[in-house]
Amino acid sequence: MGKMRVASAELRRKVVPADAAAALIPAGANVGMSGFTGAGYPKAVPLALARRISEATAAGTPFRVSVWTGASTAPELDGALAEADGIELRLPYQSDPVSRRKINAGLMEYIDVHLSHVAQLVWEGFLGHLDVALVEVSGITEDGRLVPSSSVGNNKTWIDQAERVIVEVNSWQSTELEGLHDIYYGTALPPHRVPIPLARPGDRIGTPYLVCPPEKIAAVVETDRPDRNSPFTEPDDASRRIAGHLLEFLEHEVARGRLPANLLPLQSGVGNVANAVLNGLGAGPFENLTAYTEVIQDGMLGLLRSGTLSVASATAFSLSPVAAEEINANAAAYRDRIVLRPQEISNHPEVVRRLGVLAMNGIIEADLYGNINSTHLMGSQIQNGIGGSGDFARNAYISFFLTPSTAKAGAISSIVPMVSHVDHTEHDVHVLVTEQGLADLRGLAPRRRARQIIDRCAHPDYRPLLEDYHQRALAESPGKHTPHLIGEALGWHERYLATGSMRA
Ligand code: COA
Repeated sequence: MGKMRVASAELRRKVVPADAAAALIPAGANVGMSGFTGAGYPKAVPLALARRISEATAAGTPFRVSVWTGASTAPELDGALAEADGIELRLPYQSDPVSRRKINAGLMEYIDVHLSHVAQLVWEGFLGHLDVALVEVSGITEDGRLVPSSSVGNNKTWIDQAERVIVEVNSWQSTELEGLHDIYYGTALPPHRVPIPLARPGDRIGTPYLVCPPEKIAAVVETDRPDRNSPFTEPDDASRRIAGHLLEFLEHEVARGRLPANLLPLQSGVGNVANAVLNGLGAGPFENLTAYTEVIQDGMLGLLRSGTLSVASATAFSLSPVAAEEINANAAAYRDRIVLRPQEISNHPEVVRRLGVLAMNGIIEADLYGNINSTHLMGSQIQNGIGGSGDFARNAYISFFLTPSTAKAGAISSIVPMVSHVDHTEHDVHVLVTEQGLADLRGLAPRRRARQIIDRCAHPDYRPLLEDYHQRALAESPGKHTPHLIGEALGWHERYLATGSMRA
């Protein structure tokens, strides 16, 4: 098995146990790790590093490292290192419960970054020097090229920028992934930037391999562990209704000649609502769809299988165990229709704008005028991060934001007078959808936006409260552009924190 996966004789000589590789990571190092939505993250060395940190802590010599990734990883990486109090700084996205707890307790620093910006930030040197790249691959060719695994993320940048590279070769990943990836090596900082030559979602503009000088590879570790694949849950009623409103809108846009019959390339966030939309697309009238998105989840795989989706471009898989097994067994069958790219390309603003992507992302809350909070609960507490939502939404042909109209069994309204944190400003929000209905905000001035949002998106339990707030704000600031009662605008959040409910 090892021989087949590590075909390069030179690199075979560098195979070591995980503990020996973890020992190569200095205290205080900046480590660029692979991993995106629980796919393609290193599975042995981070655990070994967490053990080393725990032992050092017990011996009275604690140390930490900074962890940069593609996006979220898994308990074996984020969970284990956060549990050991081994992470000084984390970026650019996480969704791990232990990390979230440590960040919100002030025990770990976190920088929440647009995913397409990360590589550029590193090239610019803002994050400091990258000491180590720790990257999972599915194999190494005879001439030393690296075959990526189930995500690409920032691996190209980590390998380029790091002083030394540790490679985990995971034999759980399918050997048939070879040829599925497209690693573009043409990016540069201004003034040397040139257009990204990508005009259709399925275009291949790079090479299927990550390239690394063999002398830079300090260690190779062999693993056979599965990705963190969360089981798929059937969409709930609210998600199905959100999907229903969205699909009706798309049909309407096609009927009015504002979208082509096969729509435009789709971007879809992860989770229940996104999967419900994708399921709905499978049942709907659309054919020959394409996707230019960040992750390929079960719903998208289903559309590829049925032929509704002709091609999907992303940077990672994010699959249930059943769907992951399907990809592992049939990767060759999907190789012509799935392209995994570096995240600076999968999320590239220039390409998103050129292709006219239809961007669909989940949110925490929206306000009367359409500003969006995707990241923070009650203004202060980070949930996950902005991820790629900003990369897509700002540059989308139509940016959709989707949420149930209430959270916490109705104690929270997702439509509030003023959002407690802003990730997407009103200028980047075209369509807001809840299970109550859909507000098309395109071409509307603020007061008209508020009318649409209250009437179509708010939950009936909160609609009179919002109406009351809005009317009093209009009366207090007649003629003003976006009327607010500034002393009351965050009063709903205050009430929730004090009483456990936003209800009056
Ligand atoms: N106020 C307080 N809490 C809220 C809330 C609100 N308005 N809305 C949701 N929540 C809570 C939920 O109760 C839930 O808490 P729990 O885990 O304790 O049950 C949690 O936030 C997650 O909400 P959930 O309904 O499970 O939503 P989701 O899985 O659809 O995720 C986001 C919603 C916003 C957290 C998620 O979409 C996200 O992280 N988005 C930002 C990144 C992104 O858009 N990525 C895609 C780009 S490619």
